[in-house]
Amino acid sequence: MNTQDTYQNTIQFAAQQHTDKNQTIPGSHLPYVVHLSNVAMEILVASEKSENFNTEFAIQLALLHDTLEDTDVTFEELEYQFGKAVADGVLALTKNSDLEKSEKMMDSLRRIQQQPKEVWAVKLADRITNLQTPPHFWKEEKIIKYKEEAKIILEELRGGNAYLERRLGDKIKKYNCL
Ligand code: NI
Repeated sequence: MNTQDTYQNTIQFAAQQHTDKNQTIPGSHLPYVVHLSNVAMEILVASEKSENFNTEFAIQLALLHDTLEDTDVTFEELEYQFGKAVADGVLALTKNSDLEKSEKMMDSLRRIQQQPKEVWAVKLADRITNLQTPPHFWKEEKIIKYKEEAKIILEELRGGNAYLERRLGDKIKKYNCL
């Protein structure tokens, strides 16, 4: 399959799953698929700037990255529909709900570090996308914490994708001024 067909198939699947859960972008009425397509857009641009980058694999990861965390899709279903590498990558990008809140991010980052660089790239792209103007109901403390988390993600995923690391670094700098 080519990138365009892969994108179409995958976004349809992901959009349906998130829509079935009535999921919207936090702080807005926009459907969640807007977030997914933003992450995929970051990945597509990054793929043009990166060597040895499996674009189709990364696009699938980008569009599916929140399905295990936020929808009823199972690992087995992802594996059946998209293959083991994609399912493994999405699982690494999924927080373990059995852990304490404070441990969830580092645990996921450790698992991402065991995965191909495309998985690292999707985590970077996810946070780049999320460093827009924060939802209006976020308190200052939460905004500061989110920015600190972004710095940890950038440090832990150094070497994942040079282009996206630069993008995330710039976003972190500007996040203060929003
Ligand atoms: Ni996300």
